[in-house]
Amino acid sequence: MYALSHYGIDDLDVKFFDEIASTNTASKSVELGENNCLVVSKVQTSGKGRRGRNFASTEDGIYMSLIYKPKKMKINKGLKSVLLAGVSVCELLKEYGIEAYLKYPNDCIVNGKKICGILCEMVSDAEYIEKLIIGIGVNVNNEVFDETLKDIAISMKMVKNKSYMRDIIIGKLTSILIKRLRQAETDDFEEVLEEYKKYSNTLNKEIKVIEDENNFYFGKATGIDSNGFLIVETNDGEKRVVSADVSIRNK
Ligand code: BTN
Repeated sequence: MYALSHYGIDDLDVKFFDEIASTNTASKSVELGENNCLVVSKVQTSGKGRRGRNFASTEDGIYMSLIYKPKKMKINKGLKSVLLAGVSVCELLKEYGIEAYLKYPNDCIVNGKKICGILCEMVSDAEYIEKLIIGIGVNVNNEVFDETLKDIAISMKMVKNKSYMRDIIIGKLTSILIKRLRQAETDDFEEVLEEYKKYSNTLNKEIKVIEDENNFYFGKATGIDSNGFLIVETNDGEKRVVSADVSIRNK
């Protein structure tokens, strides 16, 4: 359907829905056979965002979840897969002449606004990842956003003033993701982390780290460690961001 064989991908099942609650939720009950699987929906009625938030999913965007069985990947690689997904979206957008940056961990930002959200989940045993579920929503042909999103969201159409064939974008993005995942299985994410640093708009910035509504701290983002955690220098010493929202402080 997405001519994935054109990109050298012959071993992927595709499940397509006109409407579904969430491609990530649906992916959890997909029984994988030999192949990995891509779950796509034209619309989501309960799109899931990070940290329990909702993700607006009208028919202007793309909503897909790649279910990928990594070869012998330890569970501590989960976060690096999240970063890999962000890099893949930036690479996709670059192909369309759109310069995107990543706000840690993987909000894809264009002209200061969010163009894509990524929610990665995984199923694992005590040691190894059994399957990664990489859920990606990209604002593609949206012309307007509602009151709650209009100052913080942007679409490919708003940037380039033209509409796009969503199937082609899904094919290209899936091919980039799979190539990057295959590569990470052999080089232990080394190249992905280097690429991630180039796309990061968070490194070397003064940031606010919001752990939850009552807990936050300020510091300078100084690096990404070998597990993919953001290193933050604070007045109380060095901290690693595990699960939090990050905002960049304008001086
Ligand atoms: C975020 O920005 O907080 C993450 C949003 C992730 C949205 C995508 S859309 C496809 C997949 N299915 C979902 O329910 N969520 C992800």
